[in-house]
Amino acid sequence: MRLIFRPIKRTFFYAFLVSLFCLPALAATPSEAKIEQLLSKMTITEKIGQTNLRGRSSRATGPLPEALKQTVIDGKVGAFLNVMKPHERDELQRIAVEESRLGIPLLFGRDVIHGFKTIFPIPLGLAASWQPELAESGARVSAIEATELGVNWTFAPMMDIARDPRWGRIAESFGEDPVLTSIFSVAMVKGFQTDDLSNPTAMAATAKHLVGYGAVEGGRDYNTSLIPEGELRDVYLKPFKAAADAGVASMMTSFNEINGVPATGNKLILKDVLRGEWQYDGMVVSDWDSVIEMIAHGFAADKKHAALRAADAGLDMEMTSDTYELYLEEIIAEGKLDIKQLDDLVRNVLRLKYRLNLFESPHRREVKESSILSAEHRQKAKEAALQSAILLKNNNSLPMPKKGTVALIGPLAHAAHEQMGTWVFDGRAKNNITVLDALQQELGNENVIFAEGLAYSRVMNHDGFTAAIAAAKKADRIVFVGGEEAILSGEAHSRADISLPGSQEALIKELAKLNKPLILVIMAGRPITMGNIIDYVDAVLFNFHPGTMAGPAISDLLLGKVSPSGRLPVTWPKSGAQAPIYYNHKNTGRPANDKDFVGINDIPVQAWQSSLGNDSHYLDLGFRPAYPFGYGLTYSQFSYADLKLDQSQIKIGGSIKASAIIKNTGKREASEVVQFYIQDVVGDVTRPVRELKNWQKITLKPGESRTVTFELQTDELSFHNIAMQEVVEAGDFNLWIAPNADSGLKGHFELIE
Ligand code: BGC
Repeated sequence: MRLIFRPIKRTFFYAFLVSLFCLPALAATPSEAKIEQLLSKMTITEKIGQTNLRGRSSRATGPLPEALKQTVIDGKVGAFLNVMKPHERDELQRIAVEESRLGIPLLFGRDVIHGFKTIFPIPLGLAASWQPELAESGARVSAIEATELGVNWTFAPMMDIARDPRWGRIAESFGEDPVLTSIFSVAMVKGFQTDDLSNPTAMAATAKHLVGYGAVEGGRDYNTSLIPEGELRDVYLKPFKAAADAGVASMMTSFNEINGVPATGNKLILKDVLRGEWQYDGMVVSDWDSVIEMIAHGFAADKKHAALRAADAGLDMEMTSDTYELYLEEIIAEGKLDIKQLDDLVRNVLRLKYRLNLFESPHRREVKESSILSAEHRQKAKEAALQSAILLKNNNSLPMPKKGTVALIGPLAHAAHEQMGTWVFDGRAKNNITVLDALQQELGNENVIFAEGLAYSRVMNHDGFTAAIAAAKKADRIVFVGGEEAILSGEAHSRADISLPGSQEALIKELAKLNKPLILVIMAGRPITMGNIIDYVDAVLFNFHPGTMAGPAISDLLLGKVSPSGRLPVTWPKSGAQAPIYYNHKNTGRPANDKDFVGINDIPVQAWQSSLGNDSHYLDLGFRPAYPFGYGLTYSQFSYADLKLDQSQIKIGGSIKASAIIKNTGKREASEVVQFYIQDVVGDVTRPVRELKNWQKITLKPGESRTVTFELQTDELSFHNIAMQEVVEAGDFNLWIAPNADSGLKGHFELIE
């Protein structure tokens, strides 16, 4: 095959693709002249002060320490995180503006990840909706609530590509796909920031964690990441680039090293790519102590060396650790770092403060009625929870009839705290509605027989089984609500076995013996493997921790007021042992296939030593996941037919249109996520077996059909070749219009020069 290389600019088609879903959140143009003027008045201590992000424990009590106030007066701090009492923030800001020599205002950062007081589904759940507008509306609600209490900077969205469900932080991600992640990341940036950061309800967003944190070996948090540069650029950096183009105010470096160099001291990423290639002029902050952690990584000898390596790489602000404060002046005096390099860091910090309009309006809050946890915010959280739920199995037991009695069993049926999921500092259980609350409301208390069976998800004993079985015997059907407690996913909470923890499976097996319809509802922070119980239950409705409104959303879905429409944003393994697992993998020289597969029990005893007949699979697990990326059922069915391409050859620089007719062949109105994939058959470097390029979520009435059309620009086919040039190559391509990454209508086109 003839390959034609054509380097293209690194801009683009992403901004274009992203703009199909939401307008770029362009930051207000700051006054560079004002920055220069201020910089010229600053002492070196004040400059270094701007690079310091000081933490308060999120549980800190007692008044603000005098020593802390003095550091603000002395201009030795540029930002705070976790100052949670609004009057303390006001006081610190007043001191900064009125009592420090230059009156430079402070940033107040907080982890507002998937809601502030009104909690939305965890980011993986938002991605499962395949509706970026819901993520944007969640971020808007979060920003309105958080800015009301004086937070002006959030450490979100997290846009790490996550291919390993054992990794606890998969919960905070948008899953494994770079296009899905880019679009959701940009939607959240737009929701947090609006089009104008100076808007008092806008909050500066942070694209984190730059970069490769989701690729930690073995899914163990903080672990090493080894990522070939082409993959780094084509997969892991893609969402960050999209966020940079959309005007994200800041970025956070990750804890991990990438190919031997910790992210926090990584010149390739922070200088060459971010500032050089992307011309990014926002602020870059470290992660919590990630500057001093470069010592444990073996990249810095001591704190002073760590400060040098971070500052030299272009890290603008140091979170919590104090190496800049202690050593930067000395390092500059010794000539190891140019004062101009420090000036560059400070410029980026000041620019963000100007963009937020903090010099004009340091407190930024408008006096108004509180909208925290308002009916409108709760309704938006409910809508997001509704659209995020994924129906994985259904033997006609869902939706369930309103008539009759339900035995509601399980550790998450009435666990208001757990349903919020990971990274929630400000949400409170008392504001949440559980499945028990909602079903009682819908069906009447007398028709819901509740027995949790297990007090929390990890309980190993069977003490509650008798009561649970007794409750189930009295009811017409059983709904078991299980999963993971909130604390079992998120930072530092990786798991090797990702099945239901504790005795949940044992209890489900006991309940199955009653031969009543048994519906499993799961709330968790990651895919949960169900190999041991899937055949015991009639239906599985899966929810990534859905937040404040979990109960009403799940109740509406169970009762069929709404048909589930979530689709998997990650590949769902049969076992944690299959991880890492992702649909857009490469082929091997011996690709796995159903025809050749030889399972462990098919091998003759004392078989002759041979690899023939075997390919890239596990003898005991095969090669397929439990459910492919993009998968999800509804209460109806859809057919795909009549794939059409408007041309079979496209010129590089042009575009192609592909369409198919999607029909609702079932009996209920439902939504389908129509997915559009391509495969570049031969490349200068090997290409994935499939790549998502776009999707449309459509709602059809029973019997209704619609032609769904996708337009593909050839720029969307670019990748990094061996020489690290971004190219679009002529050659053969496959495409699919599909309900998930493992099926669909297949077409073919040729890309020509
Ligand atoms: C996490 C970040 C978070 C920071 C501040 C770190 O441990 O990795 O994602 O923003 O803490 O709370």
